[in-house]
Amino acid sequence: MNKTREFLKSRWHEIKNTDRQKGLPKPPVEKPYDKNSKIIDLPSFDEFSNLENINLVNLILNRRSRRSFSDLPLTLKELSFLLWSTQGVKKYIPEKEVVFRTVPSAGACHPFETYLVINNVENIEKGIYRYLSLEHKLLLIKLGDFSKEVIEATLGQQFVGKSAVVFVWAAIPYRTEWKYAQESYKAIALDAGHICQNLYLSAEAIKCGTCAVAAYDQEKMDKLIGVDGNDEFVVYLAPVGKI
Ligand SMILES: Cc1cc2nc3c(=O)[nH]c(=O)nc-3n(C[C@H](O)[C@H](O)[C@H](O)COP(=O)(O)O)c2cc1C
Repeated sequence: MNKTREFLKSRWHEIKNTDRQKGLPKPPVEKPYDKNSKIIDLPSFDEFSNLENINLVNLILNRRSRRSFSDLPLTLKELSFLLWSTQGVKKYIPEKEVVFRTVPSAGACHPFETYLVINNVENIEKGIYRYLSLEHKLLLIKLGDFSKEVIEATLGQQFVGKSAVVFVWAAIPYRTEWKYAQESYKAIALDAGHICQNLYLSAEAIKCGTCAVAAYDQEKMDKLIGVDGNDEFVVYLAPVGKI
């Protein structure tokens, strides 16, 4: 038996003794943060109404991985649209600690947090930020130009550092483990694919390009965005820029 291949198979019927079944509390849908941190407002969902006439068939036809970006900055409204389409909240039920987003997720567990390495976005200083999806705002993690570090952390993939912004998706596995125990990992990987596909299509809709990136140095990437590598770690990332 190839143990690594087994990861792709379903053992759903073997799920038992989960923390949910034991009555342990459901983990929060959003990672807590210091309320005194610098928080940046994002344009609201209502402001995307001009995108309603986008032709989905053309988006799907034209979508491809793009590794060459212009020097034009993204506007805050464009960034806001991309964040909403990848992890935006459609419904939050606080008494059950349940969230429904623009993307699907196994058991609605939604294990991902979105970090941004911002390099060229209008009215935002270069640095590392986290998307606060419940509030639809950005949380500043640290200021600075991290384009060199992000190239190093992606094993020398230059185009990643030349983008306007890199979306970095870090999983908090316990959000899924609480419900699905050992079956969580395939589900988490599948969830990541849905998020990135929405980024491909929504980027295309606003004349931006992106490219999924799974080849990266785990330790360097985790360190760059400031996660511990155990309870939270990077699974997938995608640079975005104007084309
Ligand atoms: C899971 C996954 C990981 C990928 N990782 C990388 C990567 O690290 N670097 C890269 O340049 N492209 C990466 N890609 C992009 C693929 O190379 C690309 O999707 C493929 O060549 C097909 O081209 P298309 O997306 O233009 O149709 C990845 C794509 C997926 C789905």
